[in-house]
Amino acid sequence: MNQIDKNKLPNHIAIIMDGNGRWAKEHGKQRTFGHRNGVISVREVVEGAAELQIKYLTLYAFSTENWNRPKLEVNTLMTLLVSTINKETKTLIKNNVRLLAIGDIENLPSKVQKELKGAIDKTAKNTGLALVLALNYSARWEIINALKKISVKVENQEIAAKNVDENLFIENLTTFNIPDPELLIRTSGEYRISNFLLWQIAYTELYFTNKLWPEFRKDDLKEAIINFQNRERRFGKTSEQIQTI
Ligand code: IPE
Ligand code: IPE
Ligand code: MG
Repeated sequence: MNQIDKNKLPNHIAIIMDGNGRWAKEHGKQRTFGHRNGVISVREVVEGAAELQIKYLTLYAFSTENWNRPKLEVNTLMTLLVSTINKETKTLIKNNVRLLAIGDIENLPSKVQKELKGAIDKTAKNTGLALVLALNYSARWEIINALKKISVKVENQEIAAKNVDENLFIENLTTFNIPDPELLIRTSGEYRISNFLLWQIAYTELYFTNKLWPEFRKDDLKEAIINFQNRERRFGKTSEQIQTI
């Protein structure tokens, strides 16, 4: 029961990396100290996911609502983002990791956009783990954004309103081409989604842990996967139906 079943791995794991500020406070330090240590956990889970041959790992790094934090914290987060992407790109290339980004990317500071685009381009041909950073991300923004894009097409008579369906909607989300996550992890003991992937998590298994993000290690990722593998995913069917497949 304590081993990962390699044949039942989730294709896509998404993580709400929460608790950096509380971790810093526990250590008598500023919140930004927590963010810097959070980068170590990011490295751990990326490595862990790549080793397990997980196909997609999405990390919620900055929400649209996070702009409302004190200016100093926001600035530190943006600077940290730029320096981390810059420092880690080489390792991503070496480990065959492909970087992607979801969210309102065009409204990130130009420095962040430039660094991000550079790393996305440099890793575009990699065939291993796809590491998806959710930046300036909000699921409600993403849904409205998709709706706007579809409305323009309907207005221009490229699509008839009666032909608007799930597939078309999915194509207009920032996650198009990325399968829905099978497993969503949230750290720090908070039981909420905080505007993350609302459309995509319709049937995702949710896993909550009390560990604060800077404490999260490869073994914690493995524990979440083992927990996931011991669940029965029914998708509206009965247990009997699932077991006869
Ligand atoms: C998560 O940790 C990082 C971001 C949201 C950017 P927090 O900064 O939210 O830490 P807590 O939740 O205040 O402890
Ligand atoms: C969610 O964490 C956003 C990220 C992890 C980037 P928050 O700390 O912003 O969420 P709330 O405010 O506690 O819901
Ligand atoms: Mg938080």
